[in-house]
Amino acid sequence: MSIALRLTELTKTFEVGKRLIGPPKGRVRAVQPVTLDVTEGETLGIVGESGCGKSTLARMLVGLLPPSSGTIEIDGAPLDNADPAIFGRKIQYVFQDTISSLNPRKTIRQIMEAPLRHLHKMDAAARKARISEIFEAVNLREEFLDRYPHEFSGGQAQRIGIARALAADARILVLDEPVSALDVSIQAQVLNLLARLKAEFGLTYLFISHDLAVVEAVSDRVAVLYFGAVVEVGPADRVFSAPRHPYTKLLADSAPVVGRALAAPEGRETELPDPMNPPEGCAFRARCPNATAVCATAAPPLERQSDGVQVACYNPL
Ligand SMILES: Nc1ncnc2c1ncn2[C@@H]1O[C@H](COP(=O)(O)OP(=O)(O)O)[C@@H](O)[C@H]1O
Ligand SMILES: [Mg+2]
Repeated sequence: MSIALRLTELTKTFEVGKRLIGPPKGRVRAVQPVTLDVTEGETLGIVGESGCGKSTLARMLVGLLPPSSGTIEIDGAPLDNADPAIFGRKIQYVFQDTISSLNPRKTIRQIMEAPLRHLHKMDAAARKARISEIFEAVNLREEFLDRYPHEFSGGQAQRIGIARALAADARILVLDEPVSALDVSIQAQVLNLLARLKAEFGLTYLFISHDLAVVEAVSDRVAVLYFGAVVEVGPADRVFSAPRHPYTKLLADSAPVVGRALAAPEGRETELPDPMNPPEGCAFRARCPNATAVCATAAPPLERQSDGVQVACYNPL
C-alpha cells in the first residue's frame, strides 16, 4: 500500500496579541512537531480533547493555514502554499459546521459549481452532469440545488459539505468532527454514507473527533493527540483496549459512550497545560501516574514498539 499523505515534523505556532511595533505578547504552540503517514485507502482516526490542535492540524493539511515548519507530501510530492488549486484537487476538508462554512448568499448549485469551474475548468454541461452524479451518490435531491445553506437541517448540511468535497474529485478527505454536531440517529446515517462513499470512490479519510467511540468504530488506525503532539498510533481495535500511553489509558478508562465528549475521570487533573507556557519535558507528566524524573527532561519522541504501535512515552504501559 502506498503512502497517500505524509506529514513530517509539521508544526504550527500562533502569535497572539500582535502589536504594530515590537514582538507579539505571546505564542501558542498549537501543533508540536507531528510526523505521521496515512496509507492509501485507510481511515486514520485522530482523537483528542478540545483544544489539543486537531483543527489546526486539519487546516494545515488542506492549505487553509500555512505551517510554521515541516512538510506535507501527497503521493510523494511536497505541497506548498503557492497554488491552492493543487491542494484542492488532492485533499478536501469537511467542516463540523458546514452551514457556517458556506457563503449564505450563494445557492447550493453555485457552491457546488465553484470547484468544478476553478479546479477542473469544466464547462456548463459537464458541471451539471457531475453535480447530478454526486448528489445521487450522497442521497440529496436535485431540487435542493436552488436553495440556500440556511434552509437545511444538520444532517442535510453535512451531506452537502461532503458533496462539495467530492466535487473537487480529491481522493483524500479531512473530516473534522463531521458528525459531532448531529443527533445520534443522524450520526449513524452520515457515518454509513461516509463508509459507502469511501468504497465507491476509493477515498482515504482522516477522521478527526473528540468522540472516542465514533473514532474507534470508523477507523483502521487511530492517532491520539495530546497538547498538539501525537502520543500514540496503533490499530483502532487495539489502541483503546490495550493502550500503551498513560494518556490513552486515561481516555479509554472513561468508558466510551457514543456521543460523549472526552473527559478525565472524577478527581483527576483535567486541564490541558497552558499553551502559552508549555511545560518542559512531557506535556502529560503532571497528570501521569507513571511519571518519573526523566519525563521532566525533554518531550519523549514517538517511537515504534516491537508490536508496531508507536508511543511517545518514557514509561509506556
Ligand atoms: N487563530 C488562532 N490564534 C491563536 N490561537 C489559536 C488559533 N487557532 C487555534 N488556536 C489555539 O490553538 C490550540 C488548538 O486549537 P484547535 O486546533 O482549534 O483545537 P481542537 O480542534 O483540537 O479543539 C488552542 O489552544 C487554540 O486556542
Ligand atoms: Mg476543532
